[in-house]
Amino acid sequence: MTNPNQDVLTFLKTRRSRSYKLLTLPIPDRDQLSRILTIAARTPDHGKLEPWRFIVLEKQSLTRLAALIETRAAALEIDPEKATKAIAAFANAHLVVAVVSTPKPSDKVPEIEQTYSAGAVCLALLNAALASGWGANWISGWPSHDRIFLRDGLTLQAHENIAGFIHIGTSKITPPDRPRPDINALTTWIST
Ligand SMILES: Cc1cc2nc3c(=O)[nH]c(=O)nc-3n(C[C@H](O)[C@H](O)[C@H](O)COP(=O)(O)O)c2cc1C
Repeated sequence: MTNPNQDVLTFLKTRRSRSYKLLTLPIPDRDQLSRILTIAARTPDHGKLEPWRFIVLEKQSLTRLAALIETRAAALEIDPEKATKAIAAFANAHLVVAVVSTPKPSDKVPEIEQTYSAGAVCLALLNAALASGWGANWISGWPSHDRIFLRDGLTLQAHENIAGFIHIGTSKITPPDRPRPDINALTTWIST
């Protein structure tokens, strides 16, 4: 065993998301975000298939996507409260990274493993942003499963999915922690 990295352990023990609803300016500039994305891409990936990619959504595109969500909510007859929430998530955001799960054909690596890797990228991106001092939140919402929104708004192909929308910005408050899992209740030890 090598020496523990106490700073990293303290970060991981205390890390928590900042609600996307409370994220404001400033946001990372392109160089700062590129460094965060580089850290996020350093993620376990069976077979080195890189079954994920990033779409960085800046202010103008977020405004455009909010309008498309409004149109889609009407077409799908989404409950008005749910529609307003989804529209606001984009209209009020300043910077969102869409992590796209983009599975590759492979005889060796089942698609579900590639999907897990995309989820792992989301957490790595969230943690890289938080550790860099930004507020960040991993969210989804009904538009992330609406094929027409994904095609017309984000030009996703039919085999691609959104693993997460990672909102990044400045959070002026540190939220109270949420209750954390009871590890004993979740863990089975098998010794024989
Ligand atoms: C795939 C996925 C989708 C999520 N979607 C939402 C969402 O749409 N809205 C929301 O408030 N939280 C959503 N969450 C929950 C938050 O990202 C997060 O778990 C919660 O804010 C606590 O995070 P923390 O453990 O980093 O503090 C989602 C989490 C995951 C893993």
